[in-house]
Amino acid sequence: MNLSFLRLIMVVSILFCSGSSTAGEWGKGIKRIVLPFGLTANQLPDPQSKGAALLASYCGQCHNLPSPKMHSTGDWPMRFEKMMDHAMLMAGTSPDVKIPVDKEKKELVSYLEKNGFRELPANSPLRGEPQVFNVIWFCSVCHAVPDPDQFPAKEWGKIVDRMNSYRKKQGREEMSNSDRKVVINFLAKERQ
Ligand code: HEC
Ligand code: HEC
Repeated sequence: MNLSFLRLIMVVSILFCSGSSTAGEWGKGIKRIVLPFGLTANQLPDPQSKGAALLASYCGQCHNLPSPKMHSTGDWPMRFEKMMDHAMLMAGTSPDVKIPVDKEKKELVSYLEKNGFRELPANSPLRGEPQVFNVIWFCSVCHAVPDPDQFPAKEWGKIVDRMNSYRKKQGREEMSNSDRKVVINFLAKERQ
């Protein structure tokens, strides 16, 4: 038998075995995953607030704490519901999963919305500009396209470089200098 074929069988069976053992662990407790850009509880915005405390206790059950700044105000309610779906599903096999009551859900969503960024409105004329394609390409793998008006033009260079470092951390292709320029000019509303 050909050696690389044997190797392939080995890799497939290792993947298969580790996959099934992970599945087995869900029942024993909560298996946590690692979000790439997590925060500690004291790094959350307004860390003494009720919303931050709820986020730390509920959202930290399955993974480290996400930054409430990483999604737009418009997207958070839908993202939140998706997390509640995960929690409901897991509660079936892991009775330890805590699910917020309605009042806490409201508090959590309003904390997330308050700290999320503003996304580019659906009817913004900027959506018709050709450069919006570069912005969607480089930004929407992680979150919505931000509204340029919420930060002063000179801030965008720093923000885009920070986002580029997140792309790098995730092993994604970094922006070329010319893409970086197009994206920053779009956000700073400087048209060539
Ligand atoms: C029951 C487990 C569970 C709980 C509780 C939970 N999450 Fe998650 N979370 C997941 C899983 C699983 C993923 C990866 C799959 C996915 O993206 O849906 C994830 C991924 C994420 C991501 C990265 C993907 C994205 O949408 O950007 C964010 C942000 C996030 N969770 C936010 C939250 C917040 C905020 C809360 C609390 C309101 C929360 N999670 C509570 C299971 C959970
Ligand atoms: C690999 C994931 C990722 C990509 C790609 C990404 N972002 Fe982000 N973005 C984040 C995370 C994580 C946060 C929250 C932490 C922070 O602000 O540093 C965030 C937050 C933001 C915020 C809110 C900052 C604040 O202080 O309120 C803006 C605005 C933003 N991103 C713009 C962009 C733009 C523009 C692009 C595309 C050029 C982009 N992002 C691409 C992950 C990403």
